[in-house]
Amino acid sequence: MYPIDYIEPVFRPPSEWKSLILQVTNGCSWNKCTFCDMYTSENKKFRPKKLELIEQEIVDVASSKQSVSRVFLADGDAMMLPFERLAAILVLIRTHLPQVTRVSSYCLPRNLKNKTVEQLQHLKELGLSLVYVGCESGDDEVLALIDKGETFDSSLAALLKLKEAKIKSSVMILNGLGGPELSKQHAINSARLMNQAQPEYLSTLVVSFPMGLERFAKPFNGRFRQLNQQQLFKEMEYLLSELSLEKTIFRSDHASNYLVLKGILGKDKEPLLAKVRMALDKPQAVSLRQEWQRGL
Ligand SMILES: C[S@@+](CC[C@H](N)C(=O)[O-])C[C@H]1O[C@@H](n2cnc3c(N)ncnc32)[C@H](O)[C@@H]1O
Ligand code: SF4
Repeated sequence: MYPIDYIEPVFRPPSEWKSLILQVTNGCSWNKCTFCDMYTSENKKFRPKKLELIEQEIVDVASSKQSVSRVFLADGDAMMLPFERLAAILVLIRTHLPQVTRVSSYCLPRNLKNKTVEQLQHLKELGLSLVYVGCESGDDEVLALIDKGETFDSSLAALLKLKEAKIKSSVMILNGLGGPELSKQHAINSARLMNQAQPEYLSTLVVSFPMGLERFAKPFNGRFRQLNQQQLFKEMEYLLSELSLEKTIFRSDHASNYLVLKGILGKDKEPLLAKVRMALDKPQAVSLRQEWQRGL
């Protein structure tokens, strides 16, 4: 346990389970996506944390002599902080925790709008090597309906900026986000976005509604229908078929998925597609997560 007072709940990507979570902001600066309830509780109103408090926490962790090799900057979009603040945090990490080899963060495309490639390169030199970008979709109609506040173009511009600065990106796409009506265009345009961006990592999750569908369904005139298993597999088939990636680590193994898929795209495209097609044609022949095993 690190000597840090977190404002709960705190979220991190599954792959950051070993990392020190440094809460450099509370909440999400956008906080409007209609599917997302992560930072909607009263105590999660967006607020950057004071630099002196962040420094104190880093110093306390360093004095606790616990081994820390990775740091994840929380909460929902720490990359919204100005360049100067991010650089100062990275310098503090480097000074007090010199053994840290990777710093990462969630990042919205708009967080990078006012940051230059040179500034991002500087952050990279100071240790920021990976950001997680919840693109969710590459389809502008879907993006508008979920109030992501981003478009295909804004998402692509951010991903290309990251690439130029040599900061790795891990993109999240949400299956089922457009319902049955927009399923195909959601998959095809998401693949088009990935093909142009060539992120280092791509993961897909199935959109889930633990707090109910009401808020999400409103922009769909209240008529949103969730995809069933077969429709989710069909959407995955469209997505994989359209993906033309050179070297992207692909994971569809989050607990929200019925069918676990993992591989490197393009190399593993055909075996992955074969698995999805098997799930479509003979669901009893593949191993699927049961409803009770799924979660967000
Ligand atoms: C903390 S949030 C995102 C970080 C950052 N704010 C962003 O949007 O890129 C992490 C990711 O969880 C996923 N997520 C959030 N709510 C979800 C839901 N209801 N169902 C499935 N995935 C969800 C989305 O892919 C989201 O991008
Ligand atoms: S998905 Fe990301 S940007 Fe959207 S509300 Fe949730 S944390 Fe904020």
